[in-house]
Amino acid sequence: MMCHHITLCVLPLMVLTHAMTPVLTIPVFDPCHNYTTLDEPWRATNYTDDFSHCDSRVSWHGWYRLLYHGQTIRMPEECLRRSGCGTAGQLWMNGTHPQLQDGIVTRRICKVVGFDCCFDRAPPIKVKACPGNYYVYQFVAPNGCNYAYCADVTTISTNASPTSAIVHTSTVSTNPCGDVHCTEDEVCGEVYGIYGCLCKSHHQPIPESFGKP
Ligand SMILES: *[C@@H]1O[C@H](CO)[C@@H](O)[C@H](O)[C@H]1NC(C)=O
Ligand SMILES: *[C@@H]1O[C@H](CO)[C@@H](O)[C@H](O)[C@H]1NC(C)=O
Ligand SMILES: *[C@@H]1O[C@H](CO)[C@@H](O)[C@H](O)[C@H]1NC(C)=O
Repeated sequence: MMCHHITLCVLPLMVLTHAMTPVLTIPVFDPCHNYTTLDEPWRATNYTDDFSHCDSRVSWHGWYRLLYHGQTIRMPEECLRRSGCGTAGQLWMNGTHPQLQDGIVTRRICKVVGFDCCFDRAPPIKVKACPGNYYVYQFVAPNGCNYAYCADVTTISTNASPTSAIVHTSTVSTNPCGDVHCTEDEVCGEVYGIYGCLCKSHHQPIPESFGKP
């Protein structure tokens, strides 16, 4: 028997609306001076105490600067191949960080699932290098749970500019099935630590519900 999964994702619509916005292509503010700090030590690549965090539950808005106990840190540019980042599915940046003169660039985001370094792509993000030796990221909700953006502890920098004082706390729910919307003939379940819908009859995973097109 077939399962019919209706994808609830509204992102393509938002992208379309954005693409149709006329004229103003130059940002009206510099994200280097208008960002939210994200100091969540569980994002560290060496944090393995739990793997419950899910960034698709966060209402991302605008630009973020990653910190680790107040110190500047970056996203990993390489695959992790192991546990860490307080999540089952680590998100890393498949591409290098930009230089100051590059301005705002777009980078691919890979999802690590099990031993697969780029099991699937999360939506790409924008990144900018800032004067003062730090970066800002325009994070967006990844499709599916549990995925979270990683902070690479080998990049902790002590000579970066101090932060502006906006503080962000992301909301973390303890029920990983809370965000998974399954149909009547499906059931929420886990595959390699990632939650999605399984067919009730054969427990076959429904690929779209795991964020795989
Ligand atoms: C992770 O790395 C940071 C920076 O090197 C270190 O201070 C911290 O103790 C490490 N944490 C764990 C759990 O190994
Ligand atoms: C700062 O960024 C937020 C989020 O993107 C935006 O809504 C706001 O208008 C910006 N503020 C200024 C002064 O540019
Ligand atoms: C990073 O992206 C490139 C281009 O899509 C791809 O060829 C490469 O396999 C990715 N890296 C990894 C480790 O998956």
